[in-house]
Amino acid sequence: MADKKIIAVVGSTGSQGSGLVQAILGDPNGGFAARAITRDPGKDKAKALAAKGAEVVAANLDDVESLKKAFARVHGVYGVTNFWEHFSGEKEKAQAKNIADAAKAAGVKHVIWSTLEDTRKLMSSDDKRMPILQGKYRVPHFDAKAEANEYFSGLPVTLLVTSFYWDNLYLFGLAPKKGDDGVYSWTFPMGDAKLAGIAAEDIGKAAYGIFKAGQQYVGKTVGIAGEYLTMTQIGAKLSEGLGIGPVKYNAVEPNAYRAFGFQGADEYGNMFQVYRDFEKQVAGARSIETTRSLNPQLQNFDQWLAKNRSRIPL
Ligand SMILES: NC(=O)c1ccc[n+]([C@@H]2O[C@H](COP(=O)([O-])OP(=O)(O)OC[C@H]3O[C@@H](n4cnc5c(N)ncnc54)[C@H](OP(=O)(O)O)[C@@H]3O)[C@@H](O)[C@H]2O)c1
Repeated sequence: MADKKIIAVVGSTGSQGSGLVQAILGDPNGGFAARAITRDPGKDKAKALAAKGAEVVAANLDDVESLKKAFARVHGVYGVTNFWEHFSGEKEKAQAKNIADAAKAAGVKHVIWSTLEDTRKLMSSDDKRMPILQGKYRVPHFDAKAEANEYFSGLPVTLLVTSFYWDNLYLFGLAPKKGDDGVYSWTFPMGDAKLAGIAAEDIGKAAYGIFKAGQQYVGKTVGIAGEYLTMTQIGAKLSEGLGIGPVKYNAVEPNAYRAFGFQGADEYGNMFQVYRDFEKQVAGARSIETTRSLNPQLQNFDQWLAKNRSRIPL
């Protein structure tokens, strides 16, 4: 361990960070060691990482001093914030600033900031197609992350633009639901646009590729994706892969979706509308080829489904 470059992984017990920790641990001769950051080293996921060889260290994104300690003597930091825990763009930015400030204090050699694009740049400020949320954002969890990019300036940073996880089908309850008539259906305001998707674990693997490549990606923005598919295509793959008969796709308008009323419906509605209305720009900000060069095991949807089908609630 002493001669290995330590990567402090924020969100180590979550989708993105756990993929990176596993990638580091899975390459024992790669020259890197994983320091898994969590608020609770006693939780099962943290204990499992420790059992596999990660150094588990406690820190909280709301406490910059705890992050400074957690980043001591590390080579690299993987920074991610979890919007869905609090639904606040401002809080997400404050946490990102803490990551950046602590990385500066620790003299880190390479930071990867898990970000997304500023969707406000895709339309004029008086565009009425979707509401402004939280007073200033179109898609808060995208725009706040993009605003936070500036906190990392002055650091040797790679801005990693991620994609929609297919794992949302089981993590966020987005899988098709069975109706009283026995037919599966799902509803999205996506029209016939292709969604830029990725297996969540492939984000961490791509991040590992970036750390391994080192200087090549410092100062760069890297957009990653596994495959671009329409909801009709994904539905057909689920139908076949899960043996659930045809999946009926209700392509509603974004306004109807935002009015569904569940927590985050406006946020999701705006996000899916961005994916629909700015399909080319979203795809243009991500490269499957680059992603595969960083992570040669990159999965497409079929491969992801074959591996994860038992996790999808039917
Ligand atoms: N779902 C998608 O399709 C998608 C696509 C692109 C980007 N994203 C972005 O991904 C982010 C979430 O990442 P994820 O999916 O990897 O997370 P996740 O699986 O939901 O897990 C959240 C992670 O964040 C850590 N965390 C949260 N608050 C923390 C705090 N105050 N201090 C320290 N650690 C904290 C948690 O650690 P402990 O609980 O162990 O402390 C946990 O490891 C979101 O901001 C979302 O916008 C999601």
